[in-house]
Amino acid sequence: MERLIGLVTGGTRGIGLGVADYLLQQGALTAVTYHSDDEAAHKAGKQLERCCGASQFLLLKGDSGDPDVVRRQHQEIQKAFGTVNVLVNNAGIMPQRSFEELTPEIWESTIRINLNSAFYWCREVVPGMKTQGFGRIVNIASLAARGGGVVGPHYAASKAGLLGLTRYGARELGPYGITVNAINPAFIQDAGIFAGWSDADKDGLRDKTLVPELGRVADVVRAFAYLLDSPFVTGVALDVNGGAFMI
Ligand SMILES: NC(=O)c1ccc[n+]([C@@H]2O[C@H](COP(=O)([O-])OP(=O)(O)OC[C@H]3O[C@@H](n4cnc5c(N)ncnc54)[C@H](OP(=O)(O)O)[C@@H]3O)[C@@H](O)[C@H]2O)c1
Repeated sequence: MERLIGLVTGGTRGIGLGVADYLLQQGALTAVTYHSDDEAAHKAGKQLERCCGASQFLLLKGDSGDPDVVRRQHQEIQKAFGTVNVLVNNAGIMPQRSFEELTPEIWESTIRINLNSAFYWCREVVPGMKTQGFGRIVNIASLAARGGGVVGPHYAASKAGLLGLTRYGARELGPYGITVNAINPAFIQDAGIFAGWSDADKDGLRDKTLVPELGRVADVVRAFAYLLDSPFVTGVALDVNGGAFMI
């Protein structure tokens, strides 16, 4: 078995940080990207260092929606660690807009960051995974990819696009021992927009799920751990949303 070398986009907060921490605990050398929040990156670095030591991870700043940045970051990871064989496309933005409020600029930046970035990273790491005959690609989509969600058309379209990328990837890459799957989280109370909500506001979300408690980053990490450890599971989208997709 090859040593795990992971890359998590948007791994300095929320779900991405939970996944990066898990990868490190599994002994993987792990690179983590972020966009601009240096303070969050510094805090994440401290957390990851406590887990496994500073030599086991890299923090890389830059826009995952820019193919030149992605290429440069990939070269840096290859130089430091070797062939990336676990790719987690997690970086995402979710500016809430209705059709009337949505501008072409916001549409384009959402598609660029949430969807194009996943393609750019796949394009970089797939050749190495094919050569190694092993790989795990996990795309963090959303309940919005299935049910539309409440953020807006740009967000739903970006996440539905990720599911298409997942299914195509599974088809092309399966013969090389590379699995490609997605996770559809929703209502993760300690990540993203929900992390800053009051308990009273969070109470308002509880009638959207079948189970009494909202989700946590740890629930998404468990789904990731399962996919990491499952060579016979590919092309699926794992719902981590308390049954919300049934309502
Ligand atoms: N939280 C939920 O309940 C939920 C539900 C459904 C889906 N999701 C999906 O799960 C993923 C993670 O969500 P989260 O709630 O954990 O998010 P979060 O806490 O807001 O963290 C987002 C991360 O992505 C990074 N990022 C943003 N734009 C980027 C860019 N252009 N290039 C590189 N990195 C970028 C951020 O870096 P900076 O801090 O530097 O900006 C940060 O590290 C997203 O794709 C989101 O759509 C979350």
